[in-house]
Order: sequence, then structure tokens, then C-alpha cells
Amino acid sequence: MFQNVIVRRPCRAMVEGITSNPQLGKPDYEKALQQHDTYIEALKKCGVNVTVLPADERYPDSCFVEDPAVITRKCAIITNPGAESRNGEKDEIIGAIREFFPEDKIEYIKAPGTLEGGDVMMVGDHFYVGRSARTNEEGIRQFIEILNKHGLTGSEVPLSEVLHLKTGVNYLENNNMLVSGEFVEKPDFAKYNRIEIPEEEAYAANCIWVNGTVIVPMGFPAVEAAVRNAGYPVILVDTSEYRKLDGGLSCLSLRF
Ligand code: GLY
Repeated sequence: MFQNVIVRRPCRAMVEGITSNPQLGKPDYEKALQQHDTYIEALKKCGVNVTVLPADERYPDSCFVEDPAVITRKCAIITNPGAESRNGEKDEIIGAIREFFPEDKIEYIKAPGTLEGGDVMMVGDHFYVGRSARTNEEGIRQFIEILNKHGLTGSEVPLSEVLHLKTGVNYLENNNMLVSGEFVEKPDFAKYNRIEIPEEEAYAANCIWVNGTVIVPMGFPAVEAAVRNAGYPVILVDTSEYRKLDGGLSCLSLRF
């Protein structure tokens, strides 16, 4: 169960955020704020306390607070984001982490290691880590070493088609996993009950489980139906403005 969630308000500069989908257009800032409000309400309905950090205009992508830190039940890990324009976000998340973890439970990924939290998927005490354009081998080595020190385990999952691991695969607890694209056939995930996402709804592979409920992006009926069929109550949240920046539901929060 999660007790806490940390989010950061999107900043006006978000319109200049990194995107691999410029054809979707720039985000509408006011709409993004409304969607962020709805996202926070959805999380609260799932019974968590939400810490809302202020917008940070220096970092256009800083609302995607999942990337500069990973929180486990044993420790918090400040990452070293591989995207240059996002790297400084790691220094801005520490204050919020210190509200919940003592210094001896806060670990750091150090250069030349890079790692972004979007590449980390938690399944109980095991963490799958995507080796992506943002997360390198040395970052994964350090991350697994930290996990082991705290009695947790990790394994590497190479990926080539999407930004982050959780762009395409997300664990919904109870052995259920949403999988799309390159992750459908990955042997790493063969032991799970894989719910395959149709290609045209691939964006919605990025759902989040929060205390028994699954928050699903609005506008993806096949994924919504599949999640309901798997037995979960669903809350729909429109993330259209974040999608324009390759962002989704998991990217917008740290849940712990
Ligand atoms: N726009 C989110 C990211 O590229 O990290």
C-alpha cells in the first residue's frame, strides 16, 4: 500500500519540454494545470497524502517528478538523469525526500552512471531497470548495488523503442502486468499475467496502481476495458497535455 505521493506542479516553461512527438503540438499550460488538479484528486481518492511541490521554471520537464528519484520501502535513491536539461532536477527533489527519509536511507547515483526513475519498475522487492538512452550500464550497476545493500534486488532490461521502461510496461500488482510493443515477448516478464495493449493504444500502457485502484489515461477504451476485466476499479484521468511531452501517469508522481 502507498501512504504518500509527491508531485510537482508543471511550470510555464513546460511548453519547451523534451518531446519525441512534436507533431502532437505544444502543451496548453492552463489545460495542463487542470489535468494536474484532476490527477491529484484521483490520487487522493486512492487514500494517499499528496505533497505538492511548487513549479520550477528552470526545468521544463520538472513536473515529471518520477525521474529524479526512486523510492523503495527501504531507501530513497536520488538518480542522475541522463537528459542534460533535466539533470539539475535531482538537486531540487532532495528537500522533499528528506521530509520522509533520514540521511542514511538516501542514496545517490553518481556520474558517469545515469539513471531516470521512469526506467525503474517495482515488483515487490525486485526492481526491473530499463537500459535506455537515459539510463546507462554504470547507472544500473550502481542502482543494483544500492538495492542489494538494502536487501532488495534488481535486474536489467534492455530497451530500444521507447523513452523509458515504464513507457511500455507497468505492474498492476497481483501478478498482473500491462505490456506493449517490445515488452510483449520479453522473457523477463513471461512469468506474469501479461495484459497485452493494442498498438493503437500503446500510450495507455502507462497506468498506475494505487492501493487497489488503477488510474488509466482517458481515451483508451481497450485498455480501460482490459483493466476493468482484470478486476480493478478504474479512475480515468486526461493526460493529453503531458502526452505531448512523452509523459504519462507514472511520470507525474513518486508513490511510496
Ligand atoms: N519530456 C519528458 C522527458 O523527456 O523526460
